[in-house]
Amino acid sequence: MRIPQIIINFKTYRQGTGKEAVRLAKICERVSRQSKITLAVAVQASDIHMVASAVSIPVFAQHIDNITYGSNTGHILAEAVKGAGAAGTLLNHSEHHLPLDVIGEIIKSNKRKLCIIACAPTAGIAANIAHFSPHAIAMEPPELIAGKISVSAARPELVTETIRKVREINPIPVLIGAGVHNKQDVVISRRLGVTGILVANAVMTAKKPELVLQELIRGLGK
Ligand code: G3P
Repeated sequence: MRIPQIIINFKTYRQGTGKEAVRLAKICERVSRQSKITLAVAVQASDIHMVASAVSIPVFAQHIDNITYGSNTGHILAEAVKGAGAAGTLLNHSEHHLPLDVIGEIIKSNKRKLCIIACAPTAGIAANIAHFSPHAIAMEPPELIAGKISVSAARPELVTETIRKVREINPIPVLIGAGVHNKQDVVISRRLGVTGILVANAVMTAKKPELVLQELIRGLGK
């Protein structure tokens, strides 16, 4: 699949849980259709089936575990999220870290089933993960997550360093996230060379999420 230009991570926001997740995903779908920009949503495992049945935009899991069918109580199985309708998954998000060897094993076992966007908090870790060839890498400095200053505005050098280090190893798309909340953040991100952005807080807490999404899309130059 084509890597989405904007991924809205619903995390565990109330506005992105259960029926509210479906409502918000439908808004994302509408904006995606109107703008012809590929938006994807990353939802809780428990909501994947309900959301994926209600919308046609790609639905991502937020995490999968390093397991196969069997005795793994409470873990998230790649086959299960795929069966529920997920097109892909985030992995190693800053709010759900994994050891490097586990990231490698999960990518190896599942990259033919799911589009895997592996997250990294630093350029160095992004480069280490690039060796495993996920479909894309998303760099998000944890200290900027949910804030009002975006990674592209606060740490542009980190964005270019990440792209350079990843490309030295593997020509895979690089996305960024953390603090993205307006058009200018996206404009700068694109100028720095990223393929797309991940966003949560700005959309999840907005009174009118469609307006925020439309503004972010304008930053893509569309
Ligand atoms: O995965 C996206 C995310 O961590 C960014 O969060 O709230 O800074 O947009 P936020």
